[in-house]
Amino acid sequence: MSKAVRKYLIAGNWKMNKNAAEAVDLVKELQLEAGDQFLVSVLVCPPFTALESVAGIIEDSSIHLGAQNMHPEPSGAYTGEVSAEMLRHLFVTFVILGHSERRQYFNETDAFINTKVLAALNGSLKPIVCVGETLEEREAERTLEVVSSQVKGCLEGVPEEKADQLVIAYEPVWAIGTGKTATPEMAQEVHALIRGLLKEQFGEVMAERIRILYGGSMKPDNAYELLSQEDIDGGLIGGASLQARAFLKIMESARALSS
Ligand code: PGA
Repeated sequence: MSKAVRKYLIAGNWKMNKNAAEAVDLVKELQLEAGDQFLVSVLVCPPFTALESVAGIIEDSSIHLGAQNMHPEPSGAYTGEVSAEMLRHLFVTFVILGHSERRQYFNETDAFINTKVLAALNGSLKPIVCVGETLEEREAERTLEVVSSQVKGCLEGVPEEKADQLVIAYEPVWAIGTGKTATPEMAQEVHALIRGLLKEQFGEVMAERIRILYGGSMKPDNAYELLSQEDIDGGLIGGASLQARAFLKIMESARALSS
């Protein structure tokens, strides 16, 4: 089977940037050029406080809406948290889970991320499950071991019939926000490993349908090379997603590779 079964997903992770008014301005710019094309899936993940305003702008376009986190419980005494159902109510369809910044600053573990992945799937949200090694782990040649254990831990108990709703994002921690990018070959090696793990867990046919994104300083000038790798099916883009021009250029690379 080939890459052709998977549509590229170009996802913007806006992190803790843009108030609601600024988010609306940015998404309006994106919508002008990306709002009516279906060759590539385009996703924006604004902060919670901008989800509703952004949803109002993109409702008739092909741009998808994602959140950056959620709590696994459906409701209850979890001050400061939001549930899958609350997100879905705002027309959110994707949710980033286990981003390295959540692992690093909020002590999220694979076991906790796993509960969120299962809750997202149960709540009809598509989880974007983030994995990736730190610089120390790469230098100690532990990349493949670390990524394998993260993938297995985060995906435990995912039912096979829901596996095609998953998206995996490989984000080497040392490449996030640093301007350092994994070479296309380095990234492809890890993506192929992840695809192999998905095959073991869900079977060949299902594994070929799951998108694996690369994240970590993806920019217009490195996107084409990265996206042309066999197992790289899109990007999770932080810094470059805050400027419409840069994000749209990355999307154009994916479009060029799709046609
Ligand atoms: P970056 O962030 O593109 O700014 O490196 C990527 C991410 O953290 O998802």
